[in-house]
Amino acid sequence: VQNTDFYRPAYHHTPSYGWMNDPNGMFYKDGVYHLCYQYNPYGSKWGNMHWGHAVSRDLVHWEQQAPALLRDTMGHIYSGSAVVDKDGTAGYGKDAVVALYTSASDENGQIQCMAYSTDGGYHFTKYEGNPILRPFDGLKDFRDPKVFWYEPSKKWFMIVSADKEMRFYSSPNLKDWTYVSAFGQGYGAQPNQFECPDFIQMPVEGKPNKKKWVMIVNINPGCLFGGSATEYFVGDFDGTKFTCDTPPSVAKFLDYGKDHYATVCFSNTGNRVLAMAWMSNWQYANITPIKQYRGANTLARELRLYEKDGQYYLSSDVVPEAKVLRKNKRVLNVGTVPNAHVVKDVNTNYDNAFELEMEITPGKNGIAGLELFNAKGEKVNIYIDLKAKRVVMDRTQSGLTDFGKKAEPHDIEKAFDAQTIKDGQEIMRKRNAVNYQNDFALGTWAPLNLCQGPTYKVDVWVDKCSIEIFVDGGRISMTNLVFPKKPYTDVRFYAQGAPAKFDNVKIYRLAQ
Ligand code: FRU
Repeated sequence: VQNTDFYRPAYHHTPSYGWMNDPNGMFYKDGVYHLCYQYNPYGSKWGNMHWGHAVSRDLVHWEQQAPALLRDTMGHIYSGSAVVDKDGTAGYGKDAVVALYTSASDENGQIQCMAYSTDGGYHFTKYEGNPILRPFDGLKDFRDPKVFWYEPSKKWFMIVSADKEMRFYSSPNLKDWTYVSAFGQGYGAQPNQFECPDFIQMPVEGKPNKKKWVMIVNINPGCLFGGSATEYFVGDFDGTKFTCDTPPSVAKFLDYGKDHYATVCFSNTGNRVLAMAWMSNWQYANITPIKQYRGANTLARELRLYEKDGQYYLSSDVVPEAKVLRKNKRVLNVGTVPNAHVVKDVNTNYDNAFELEMEITPGKNGIAGLELFNAKGEKVNIYIDLKAKRVVMDRTQSGLTDFGKKAEPHDIEKAFDAQTIKDGQEIMRKRNAVNYQNDFALGTWAPLNLCQGPTYKVDVWVDKCSIEIFVDGGRISMTNLVFPKKPYTDVRFYAQGAPAKFDNVKIYRLAQ
């Protein structure tokens, strides 16, 4: 497909045409990463849900395939997961790939279904006995099954989002499922609705024998800055029940931007925990100023569990494989910045596909930042504020932002009491957002105490209409869309309140 879209990313995964939301059914097999996704091949807005399909050997270069699962008479093919059935428990032979997804329609509601592949995950056949699971209480929002093998019980487990909780089921064969327990009522940011779960056992960094279970929960609404976001809970699982380490009021976010949703992990990746998220927000996903297609995924991320002040947190760093995108490198001598230090034209010709890497040491109680800008006066301001103890990305004046005002609630949001959502989000916006103007034109921030200081390693990935930042190896990650009318051509390093230091500053042009 010829690219006619100014904002199509240069190195992120996008569908050639049509609409994309959540990543689905991701797995690794025979040296190939398979990425399916919520896909509408018939238009660039949400509808006609299929599972699109792309494959990659390095998590960076993606090749589009025919859709893996087509919408059928039972309904939309909503989100779900896929596993490699090593022992052939489902009856399709050793190493069959089994996909679990939600079939959604007005007539049948949301029910869980299965499909299998015996050619390594390229072609799927839907199971003739579908559905394999219905909600026991007629619940309307019951979807996005995530399946994993639990070795101590030698059984499969499924975790399904069920409105404001996650429900666990177990099965010997991926077809017959028994209800086990539920977790989550009242946990995390409020108001919320749970979607797209994941559940992974991970070692704690530096303590290989200490393992914890992490539940990834995507919530919509519930984002600190309005709309949808990825949150997680750390705790223990005994084969029956998940117990969270922290009280219900604690909310930990995997990414502190506004465009990071539906994060789930690849299955069958050994010791690595590899995740991807959809770079948008249900508040405005359908109306972003894009023409030819709509929807992009984040760079693949590697998740790790670390301990800080007696608590466990997930870090989310760009995978090292992404370094192949670096095409040329320039070292910038910035050093100590007493006040405002302007570096002009550092990225001319990089056409909004570049990476900036550096170590920042803000002065006492000061602000240290970098501003990406162009001759039109459009800019994105990324800064560390020691006084407020925040890392901030402000996209208030990043380019096109007006469309954010016209945001309509997504169908799923309509399920809530509209006033409750409005009140809750309004309170959160006022409390949290930096320079809030509308659903899109705002700043997002992350708590700096997730990092050690006094020097912060900052890695910024710009790709046409997105900015992902990673601080200290992903202890803070922040993903936001931006729609500048012209590429950002200049970078301004600055300090406020106290001189700041910018060391080892490098800029790379990025291309596939
Ligand atoms: C999350 C979500 C899922 C659902 C899918 C439908 O973004 O709402 O819960 O399965 O999108 O496309």
